[in-house]
Amino acid sequence: MNVDYVHGYTERESARLEDQANCLNELLHADSLFPKGSTILEAGCGVGAQTKIIAPKNPDSKFVSIDISPESIVQADALIKSLHIQNVEFQTGDIFDLHFPEESFDHVFVCFVLEHLPQPLDALLKLKKVLKKGGTLTLIEGDHGSTFFYPESTTAQAAINTQVRLQSENGGNANIGRQLYPLLLRSGLKKCCVSPRMVYVDSSKPDFVEGFIKNTFTAMIEGIKEKVDKKDAASFDQGVRDLYRTAQADGVFCYTFFKGIGYNI
Ligand SMILES: C[S@@+](CC[C@H](N)C(=O)[O-])C[C@H]1O[C@@H](n2cnc3c(N)ncnc32)[C@H](O)[C@@H]1O
Repeated sequence: MNVDYVHGYTERESARLEDQANCLNELLHADSLFPKGSTILEAGCGVGAQTKIIAPKNPDSKFVSIDISPESIVQADALIKSLHIQNVEFQTGDIFDLHFPEESFDHVFVCFVLEHLPQPLDALLKLKKVLKKGGTLTLIEGDHGSTFFYPESTTAQAAINTQVRLQSENGGNANIGRQLYPLLLRSGLKKCCVSPRMVYVDSSKPDFVEGFIKNTFTAMIEGIKEKVDKKDAASFDQGVRDLYRTAQADGVFCYTFFKGIGYNI
């Protein structure tokens, strides 16, 4: 594995990605639909958390799902086989060193990957090369700057900012959602369009309290605990507790994802 990936490749992170995908299924993927007979490149598929949602939604299309981590590809393959999904082929592969002929895919799909890449525009240019004329490139990313919650807590906000800083020190950008439109434009794709997808959670939606506040967002922040300076550890832990506090009966949590699409015309 040659990527210093801020979220890591632990079992807990795999479970978190699955929770995230399950809970955000409708919000992010209601429109993840491709014309029948398409061949779709899913770049940076990880452990298959999105694959298991989008592949069954498009049973008459074929997915080629790649990831730079061979371990993740093994897990993703096992997951998809266990669900008897048959329209996915997995390969270990690097977005920056793709081995497919130019214009080999009808569509390209990328979810929660650009945020980890030092050169997201270069990634889009590489992906555009393997996209057929007339095809689309779909991007989904979050933006931690869109997070707000009740009860308010500057300590929780500081814990989130620590994650943003660490990700940026690794060459990534946890606030990349707001840049999808400019990135799509700069990549030369046309008819670019971005839609914000806000997750609003309060205790009237217990599934989202568990699946999003606790198991997706706060678990992600908590997951960087070992990377936090010792001197900041107590404050960071308090920030994480304050985030979990928003999961109580009077708590509220908001976060916005961005989904963008551009056409290769
Ligand atoms: C946050 S995970 C997202 C996985 C999956 N798309 C999802 O939403 O559950 C980011 C993934 O991007 C992969 N990745 C990072 N750099 C990559 C590259 N250059 N080529 C292919 N995959 C890459 C990582 O290995 C990791 O599995």
